[in-house]
Amino acid sequence: MAVVTVRFLGHAAFELRGSKKVLVDPFLRNNPKAAARPEELEADIILVTHAHGDHIGDSIEIAKRTGAKIVAMFDVANYIRKQSEDVEVVGMNYGPTEVDGVFIVQVPAWHSSSDGVHSIGSPCGYIIRLDGRTFYHAGDTFVFLDMKLFNELYGPIDLAMLPIGGHFTMGPKEAAKAVELLEPKKVVPMHYGTWPPIASDPEEFKRLVGGKAEVVILKPGEEIEV
Ligand code: NI
Ligand code: MN
Repeated sequence: MAVVTVRFLGHAAFELRGSKKVLVDPFLRNNPKAAARPEELEADIILVTHAHGDHIGDSIEIAKRTGAKIVAMFDVANYIRKQSEDVEVVGMNYGPTEVDGVFIVQVPAWHSSSDGVHSIGSPCGYIIRLDGRTFYHAGDTFVFLDMKLFNELYGPIDLAMLPIGGHFTMGPKEAAKAVELLEPKKVVPMHYGTWPPIASDPEEFKRLVGGKAEVVILKPGEEIEV
């Protein structure tokens, strides 16, 4: 089976390159840790986890140039559509779907979703099945027991991308508990170190996970094959 290459673009932004190119939360231009500029990226599908600026990021600009479809929660999708009518937006809600041959499940996340003031939809994470591999991008969230269901319904999860920065999301302790529930083969920590409030130590996360999964600490720009 062909491999899927996963590149960490900084903060919560990832690029999955297989038979399709999938971007998740491509926040680059205002991201002090961005590993790429929006104009450098190609995409077929862009997944957005919630309306906060550090997640919608440069989705619209990239979709306009590449023709990628933006997938987001129904209300967030409408919010994006209001900003640009030139992009194809797929609005959905918690549940499974297929977009261009990629199986996607929008799953709950415990967080908020807004333009900073007004609520827009609800936050989510994504299960992504691409070329026979299963990925979970948690979005911004606290840990919750239903993560166990994601493993039972869609597992085994080959790679989980989990926030560990604390303050707005899980910190290392909560994310290590999430690893117990999800039982992924590999886990990449994200959403830390971008700004002072979310400065947390990925080595502490690795210690807390112990042998329960392979923790792969990626610097922005680094990638792994799954
Ligand atoms: Ni957020
Ligand atoms: Mn965030």
